[in-house]
Parts: sequence; C-alpha cells; structure tokens
Amino acid sequence: MNKNKKLWGGRFAETTAHDAELFSASIQYDQRLYEQDIAGSIAHAKMLQKIGILNVEECERITAGLMQIREEIESGSFEFRTDREDIHMNIEARLTELIGAPGEKLHTARSRNDQVATDVRLYLRKQTDEIIKMIFALQRAFVKKACEYKNAVMPGFTHLQHAQPVLVAHHLLAYVNMLERDKQRYAECRTRIDVMPLGSCAFAGTPIPIDREYTANILGFSSVSQNSIDAVSDRDFIAEFLSVSAILGMHLSRLGEELVLWTSPEFAFVSLPDAYCTGSSIMPQKKNPDMAELVRGKTGRLYGNLISLLTLMKGLPLTYNRDLQEDKEPLFDTVDTVRGILSVCTGMLDRIVFNTSRLYSMADTAFILATEIADYLVMKGIPFRSCHEITGKIVAYCEKNKKTFQDLSLDEWKTFSPHFDSGIEDIVILEKSIQRKKSAGSTAPSEIERQLTYWESVMEVE
Ligand code: ARG
Repeated sequence: MNKNKKLWGGRFAETTAHDAELFSASIQYDQRLYEQDIAGSIAHAKMLQKIGILNVEECERITAGLMQIREEIESGSFEFRTDREDIHMNIEARLTELIGAPGEKLHTARSRNDQVATDVRLYLRKQTDEIIKMIFALQRAFVKKACEYKNAVMPGFTHLQHAQPVLVAHHLLAYVNMLERDKQRYAECRTRIDVMPLGSCAFAGTPIPIDREYTANILGFSSVSQNSIDAVSDRDFIAEFLSVSAILGMHLSRLGEELVLWTSPEFAFVSLPDAYCTGSSIMPQKKNPDMAELVRGKTGRLYGNLISLLTLMKGLPLTYNRDLQEDKEPLFDTVDTVRGILSVCTGMLDRIVFNTSRLYSMADTAFILATEIADYLVMKGIPFRSCHEITGKIVAYCEKNKKTFQDLSLDEWKTFSPHFDSGIEDIVILEKSIQRKKSAGSTAPSEIERQLTYWESVMEVE
C-alpha cells in the first residue's frame, strides 16, 4: 500500500497537492483532542463488540492498540502527520499500522462528523468542570479578603467620582455575586454539552444495529442526541461556551481595570503581590500591574472568538461542512485564556493588600455624605426632590465658604431648612452613615455580615 494513501483515497486518481494538504490539516491544533478521541474509540469498539461486529479478540487488540497510541502521544514519540489531516485519522492510521486488520474495522458505523462532535463535547465537558472549580477558587479568595477587611471603609464611585462611602467587603462581594452567575451559566451550558452525537454517523444514521445508549453510558454522557442531522451540524454548545466565557471575561476585565486604577499613586488603594507585577526595562522604580492589564486586554480575544464562531456558522447549510473545522482554534484559545485569567486573578486576590487608612481618608472627603443629609430631611417628612435641592444649596454654600458639613453650626444648618436639629451632627459622621443603612443588600455592617456568613458557608471558608 502506498505509504501516503489517504484513508478516504479509494476514488482518487491524484494525490493531494502539498499546499492543499497544509491548508486543510488540523492536526497541529486538534491533537489536543487525543485523549477524548481515544476514549471515544474504545467505547465505540466495545459497543461494536456487543452487537457482534467485532469479536472479543479484535476488540481487545483495538483497545490495547489505542492505549499504546495514548502512551506514544504522552511520551512524545508519536509522529503527528500532516498528510493524515487530523487527530482522528492520525490515530486510526497508526492503529492499523500497529495491529493490522482489526484496526480497519473500527470506523464501522461512525464518521468523522459524529466523531469530532463527540470529541469536542467530551473535551468541553471536562474543561467546563475545571473552569467551574477555578471560579470557585477565585470566589473564595474574594470572600477571604472581604473577611479580612470586614470593617474597612472606602469611597464608592459612580462616573468614577466619589459618590457614597461603602465597606470594602461590600465591593469585594459584588464580584463574588458576578462570579456566581458565571458559574451558573457554565453549569447550564454543561447540560447542553453533555449530549452524545456519536452514532449519528455522517448525518443520516446507519443500518447497522448500533447501541448508542451503551456507548453513551461508557463515556458518561447524560443522553444521546435525538436528531442525527442536528447532531453533526450543531456547534451551539461551543457558541454558548464562548459566550459564557466572554461574559466572565467582561467581569474580570472590570476587576483588571479597577486594579490598574487602584494601584496607581493617584488612588493608592491597594498593592499587588510582586509575583503578579513586572518591572520596567528602563525605569528602575516601576512596579507595573501587567497581569491586571492583560486580564483586561485578553478579554478582547474572548469576544473575538465568539464572533469568529458565530460568523463561521451563519451561512452554513446543513449538515457538516469543512468550515466547521475552524471552530477549534477559537475554542481552544478561549479555554486557555479563561483559565489564565482565572488563575492570575486568584493569585492577585489571594495576596492583595488594601491601604485601609488611605481608603478611609478618601471616603471621608468633601461632600460624600450629601445623600445622607437629603435622606435625613426625607425622614422629617419633606419630599425627596426638595431635600435634594436644599442639600445642593448647602454643598454650594460650603464650597463657596470653604467649609465641610462638619464645620457648619446648627444655626447655619437652620438657614437652609427649619427641620434641621441637633441630630444632623451624627448624620455627617462617616461610620454612622454606613451603620444607618438598613435596606437588604446594602452596605450596612449587619447586611455585609449576613452576606459574608452566607458566602463563608458556601465557600467553606473557616
Ligand atoms: N478535522 C475535521 C473537523 O474538525 C473532522 C471532520 C472531518 N469530516 C469530513 N467529512 N471531512 O471538522
């Protein structure tokens, strides 16, 4: 047999052009699916034995051959060949080289179309489980920091302007909530990944009496696909994974941005561990928050990968088209990027140090308690719009006279409204303003304590 003969070469009179071979091969990147491809083939062989297509000895030789291939790949001795196109044909061709005739029976009642869809689903199921664990670890790091800085106060921002004081723990727990939704989205997505296409064959099914449930059981799939045309054409599960990952990236990119701001001398809110910063090749004093910047920067790829796949899919007629091979690079890139982002965020959060005195003094500035004054007047029965107006005038007065709220005498307060009484003094004290918050989910210490207790028990933080 011609050494370079293709597994599909029967009807061809000419060999594939070299440039066409290079252009179409996917083995450079789909070799990452080797583990899933082998597991899928072993399960398929067992099923073929069960229905009598393979005898016991053939099935055993196929299984042993596939296990040897796995070892060759893991030890680095396997030769990945571009002329064998992809991981599926590299493994199948090597199997037949190793064990001869039984290897040629393996591709019975199977096509690369259902095979590749199965491999990717197995791969993604595993990656999703690992990513969920990594998100959990990051949430845990946030919760631990929130506990550590339970009493610290910081300015909260809108429009990047000081708005109202909050507890640092409140801000940190906001990220825990975002990550919780990310985790739920991955878990949801996993239920749709966990469906086995194998047995759809090229797309129309097979006359061979295969037992799909049996194979699904071996591979740990929760169910088998219900429509073979859909099963080989569908890449929604990848689009969904890329979309969920893009949203996660968006959340952590906001964290990246905050860390970049907060480490600047203008803010000086936090310092990051040296291990997650880099220096400058020219300016010896520099400590740059590169990991935080790259979390922000790499989120761009996550968006790009989603758009690549959606664009790839939008014009494809059913069923399989070779274009679908282009699903893998965006997918692998997103998996690597998300894992990298989660890992460095956890590393930074584990050892971030908050500059609590700086945070306090920044929270205690200017007119950050203006809303408290308006709320105080509301409690005296004045409509909120008037309260807002009155407080605005007080701010203008203070600005003009270079005074803080705390500098005002009761007589001065009363010139703005007869409703002010000596109780106003407490209103403009930072800690008291935080303690006075009552609403569910607010920055009140009792609310933060409640949230912390909940997350500590979920995260098993001691
Ligand atoms: N490497 C191919 C892919 O990733 C495998 C399926 C090939 N199927 C085919 N009919 N050419 O999509």
